[in-house]
Amino acid sequence: MQEKISVIDLFSGPGGLSEGFTQFNNGKAFSPFVSVEMDLHACNTLKLRKLFHYLKNSKHPKLSSYYRYLKSKKNITWDEIKTEFSDVEKMIDKAVWKHELGSWSADDTCNEIKKRLKTLGHSEKNEIILIGGPPCQAYSLIGRSTRSQQQEKGTYSPETDHRNYLYEWYLNILPEFKPAVFIMENVPGILSSKINGEYIFNKIINDLQSPHTKNGKVVQYKLFPLVEPEQEDLFPKVGTTDFRIKSERYGVGQSRRRVIILGIREGFSDIDQIPYLTEVDKLVSASDVIDDLPKLRSGISKIDRKKVTDSYGLWKQQLDKDWVNLARGVSNEIKTEINRVRKIIKKESYLDDRGSFFVPCLKYGKKKESQLPQDLFSWYVDKKLDGYLNHESRSHMDTDLKRYLFNVIYSDIKGKSPLLTDYPEQLLPEHKNTKSGNHKDRFRTVLKNLPGKTITSHISKDGHAHIHYDPKQCRSLTVREAARIQSFPDNYYFCGNRTQQYHQVGNAVPPYLAFQIASIVNYIITKT
Ligand SMILES: C[S@@+](CC[C@H](N)C(=O)[O-])C[C@H]1O[C@@H](n2cnc3c(N)ncnc32)[C@H](O)[C@@H]1O
Repeated sequence: MQEKISVIDLFSGPGGLSEGFTQFNNGKAFSPFVSVEMDLHACNTLKLRKLFHYLKNSKHPKLSSYYRYLKSKKNITWDEIKTEFSDVEKMIDKAVWKHELGSWSADDTCNEIKKRLKTLGHSEKNEIILIGGPPCQAYSLIGRSTRSQQQEKGTYSPETDHRNYLYEWYLNILPEFKPAVFIMENVPGILSSKINGEYIFNKIINDLQSPHTKNGKVVQYKLFPLVEPEQEDLFPKVGTTDFRIKSERYGVGQSRRRVIILGIREGFSDIDQIPYLTEVDKLVSASDVIDDLPKLRSGISKIDRKKVTDSYGLWKQQLDKDWVNLARGVSNEIKTEINRVRKIIKKESYLDDRGSFFVPCLKYGKKKESQLPQDLFSWYVDKKLDGYLNHESRSHMDTDLKRYLFNVIYSDIKGKSPLLTDYPEQLLPEHKNTKSGNHKDRFRTVLKNLPGKTITSHISKDGHAHIHYDPKQCRSLTVREAARIQSFPDNYYFCGNRTQQYHQVGNAVPPYLAFQIASIVNYIITKT
């Protein structure tokens, strides 16, 4: 049985994947940890998270100072607060390496990781696991049609898109560190991406099975899926499986599809079959995970395309205006509901809040009961925090506010979001693409009773695809709501401005899924 397992997390983002491993057995199973990430804000988030875990697991007296920072309602960074935690400062700075993989040689990169691991307590006899997800933009189905068009015009070539080759950094690390187990995550688009007419996934699978250094040193891996393969829809066929995972089946309140490969070094373990992830009996819905969060109204940024200063009065007034004209052609059922909601918005005053970096529970008097099942409740909620981080609403144009109101009410009545073709003419955006038939599903409500749709990093730019199901709040999801749907615990603080926070949340592996993956890795290691 292994005593200590060190972890290398490449392309670690804000740390969704590492969170699952860190939380497993309260940080005792997988440590020390080195994360490599190039984005400054994601690194800041990671550092604060590592600080939190360290303070909590060591019952450090300064844990209360950390909570004080979180509740300060300010944008905090590691650099600003680190002097207060001088006893762990060096450790945290070593554990998170802000670095662009590819900018140094493979040897220098590996040497730096080795040095960091050693400083953090790793010894030669400890086994290592490697986790990570090389960036996925080049494989993503989002933007693929644009890339295809560019390819036809000769302005894009997958062969020269360096992002198609970032997984090779993963390969460089494998023979150097020979991890006992690795986890590699990616988007489903990786299954159908081609380079020079060949599926890149087939090459990745071959490379992962026998990675080698430039000197030819080879190490062999046996690859496993984490779920039972769905025999009927294999694409492309790779052995007997395609490694696809539907996160919602494993207790995540989000229908996020990802490809996850687990590799075991040959000779490390003789198990033929790893345990699969366990499916939940009942899917977790979006409202299960976000309904108890404080209600916030959206802001208003523009009226008739002109910038305005947001106020509650102006917001209410705009939401109430013009409906006789706007709702022409809309079914009576939807019209009646729009009128009912308009009346509530006009009359009630409890919604005069936009949220902030920290929203204390107390402000809301009696807290709404969470509908989370018990195990998820303890995963999310932190009584010491007693509030909500990164819960602040965005501003929208007057026209979008009205589209949101229509969209949410339509979705509630019909059980699906309207396409642009379902909108009354008067509510359609004056965009050249509106009538082209492209992006007909541009405005989408998060349906209350189903798992949320995939939170992507685009959510930073495009709130339209994630409209809150409560028409009275009339807004897109906050960072905290997106984080809840992604299964980030409430005490997970995202650094940077709001756009950067959304970006990090959308990039991550759902930590609750990662926790279950960590348990499978732990099984493999302890059975060996
Ligand atoms: C899909 S995200 C990884 C998410 C992460 N596994 C998690 O669960 O939170 C990919 C990350 O790779 C980072 N990245 C992209 N290119 C990189 C490079 N060359 N070196 C280091 N990090 C890179 C991006 O900034 C992004 O945060």
